Amino acid sequence: MSYVSVKKRNDKKEITAEDECKVEFVVGDVLFDIFEKVDYELPHGCLNGGCCSCLVEVLKGHEHLSFPKARESETLTKFKENYERKHGKDSLNMKEVRLSCQATIIKNDDIVICPFK
Ligand code: FES
Repeated sequence: MSYVSVKKRNDKKEITAEDECKVEFVVGDVLFDIFEKVDYELPHGCLNGGCCSCLVEVLKGHEHLSFPKARESETLTKFKENYERKHGKDSLNMKEVRLSCQATIIKNDDIVICPFK
């Protein structure tokens, strides 16, 4: 069995070791949908890859997710440009970010995410 977990952030917005939710999945599931099925709502907006409200940091297992399709790539590129303009060049280095409404699981292995904001 493989699981996808959502980590908590503390008051200082730091990621904690504690899981907020942990759910079993099957290959082909979309991250957002997995949690919706158990009534755990990840932050979201449009649910079609255009608004970035569902942005998550993938802390473990990003290689088990599908490559971003054109719409997600375009939205992530805009997000990264804006974020780096605000927080400095390379401020996203080492962080894997994805849109939870678009990222599909392609491999049966554990994944850990945290809402970005
Ligand atoms: S909810 Fe808008 S991009 Fe995912």
